[in-house]
Amino acid sequence: MTYRVRRFNPETDIEAVQNVNRSCLPENYPRFFFIDIASKFPEGFSVAVMDDTGDIAGYEMTRIEKGLSNYGFGICKKGHIISIAILAKYRRRGIAVKLMQAATDAMRLRDIKEVYLEVRESNQAAIDLYQKLGYIPFKVSKKYYSDGEAALIMISKI
Ligand SMILES: CC(C)(COP(=O)(O)OP(=O)(O)OC[C@H]1O[C@@H](n2cnc3c(N)ncnc32)[C@H](O)[C@@H]1OP(=O)(O)O)[C@@H](O)C(=O)NCCC(=O)NCCS
Repeated sequence: MTYRVRRFNPETDIEAVQNVNRSCLPENYPRFFFIDIASKFPEGFSVAVMDDTGDIAGYEMTRIEKGLSNYGFGICKKGHIISIAILAKYRRRGIAVKLMQAATDAMRLRDIKEVYLEVRESNQAAIDLYQKLGYIPFKVSKKYYSDGEAALIMISKI
């Protein structure tokens, strides 16, 4: 099964991306949120499309924010991984790694030097993915999620 990673197209991909989001994560967002994120940093929002069926197997959306560096560099631009999900049947084929690499490449072109993300403390698969990519635990944000679970904040230099 081969696939390619390309930029999210708000006009043609929104339903499929929302379906992936709803079937994979409890954090679901309204349509306008995806469109807004894509409009602000289009290169930072990618989808993985299966070559044979044209199915969208997964997506990743990111944002560029200004704030205090987690590495002590003062105020800086930071990349924020907002959401990534791969449909269950397409997992463990390296698609998430490819999407993360695409986001990182896009951020580097915008002169971003550091990235952060939140992940549920219980989400070992995602934590393993991020660790494999060089992210390190930074702090725990208690009761971050609406069901009361804490978020692990992970950071990486890019
Ligand atoms: C987490 C998720 C995005 C990983 O997607 P994926 O395409 O299967 O990940 P990859 O195939 O690129 O895996 C890369 C590495 O991540 C780690 N990993 C991925 N899934 C894992 C699992 N179920 N258990 C343990 N490690 C896992 C492994 O280190 C893996 O490398 P390996 O296959 O060589 O061992 C996917 O499981 C998913 O969509 N989960 C539900 C949504 C979610 O949790 N999103 C993250 C929210 S913060």
